[in-house]
Amino acid sequence: MELSVCTTDEDYEQWRAVRIAVLPYERCGSVAEMRAQDSPTRLLLLARRDGAVVGSGLADRSETADAGSLAPRVLPEHRRAGTGTALLRRLAEHLSDLGLPEVRATVDDDGSLAFARRFGFTDVDHEVEQTRPVVDLPPLPDLPPGVSVVLAGERPGLWPDCYERFGREAVSDFAVDTPLEVTPERWATTWLGDPMFLAVHDGDVVACAGLHQDTDEPRRAEHGLTAVRRDWRGRGLARHLKLRTLRWAAQHGIDEVYTWTQDGNAAMRALNEQLGYATSRTSTKVARALPLG
Ligand SMILES: CC(C)(COP(=O)(O)OP(=O)(O)OC[C@H]1O[C@@H](n2cnc3c(N)ncnc32)[C@H](O)[C@@H]1OP(=O)(O)O)[C@@H](O)C(=O)NCCC(=O)NCCS
Repeated sequence: MELSVCTTDEDYEQWRAVRIAVLPYERCGSVAEMRAQDSPTRLLLLARRDGAVVGSGLADRSETADAGSLAPRVLPEHRRAGTGTALLRRLAEHLSDLGLPEVRATVDDDGSLAFARRFGFTDVDHEVEQTRPVVDLPPLPDLPPGVSVVLAGERPGLWPDCYERFGREAVSDFAVDTPLEVTPERWATTWLGDPMFLAVHDGDVVACAGLHQDTDEPRRAEHGLTAVRRDWRGRGLARHLKLRTLRWAAQHGIDEVYTWTQDGNAAMRALNEQLGYATSRTSTKVARALPLG
């Protein structure tokens, strides 16, 4: 078995093929999106056996403070042959070399959780996936006086510029076990949905909700960040914006939307349930200290 670093577009496509085979229910960024995330801290690997790709790996500095994240993935028909172990070791070594004291990973199934525990990872958090077919949409509630809704794409600059007065607070309110550290640059790029609906009051963004479209599965889309500034909560803005994204989905041939929410985010989960989303999957966030040893 050999490991190699992804460099060419063909490598990236092969990496995507493993990702899609292992997690068929989650959108995978296009090669262009992946290229846009390339950085000196990010490592993408392919694992081959007898020349054929059997697995892939990802490691990078994470948005969780002082931690790296990694994801070894092995095609189901090639598991239990040591590939996951080889990927994990190389990915963890990369993160140790970056000087990171902790590593995190997400697992969706019992077998992968057993693998993670076998290597000393422990559970630190849980996330819930909620899914809704794009049918029977409830009516749009009225907006509070003085609030208008715009698409981020129609107002260039509004999204990157709202990081200080809106984004920083939204990210710090995440119900995570360890605070997130999101750079303004990542806020401006990976956190921006397409479409991204923004509620604006007096020129300030006070709420957002968006979608990430899936080029491989155009009939499904994942919700991006839904957030309301603290002083605007409890006035129906999240409900309004989320319903705007559902309407947009219906108009663009999307049949189903899904969203991942921290287990501890009772408010978001309750709103999703009210809006007709049903729990479809849970995942476990696991962590351990580096080096792997
Ligand atoms: C987790 C994953 C990468 C393991 O890949 P793999 O190539 O099968 O792993 P290995 O063969 O190196 O397994 C090493 C050891 O982990 C444990 N393990 C792996 N899979 C297991 C399973 N399904 N049930 C119980 N233990 C398991 C065993 O102790 C195994 O040793 P053994 O086969 O000698 O008993 C693979 O199942 C996968 O791609 N899962 C989905 C992606 C994912 O969740 N990745 C994150 C993991 S942190």
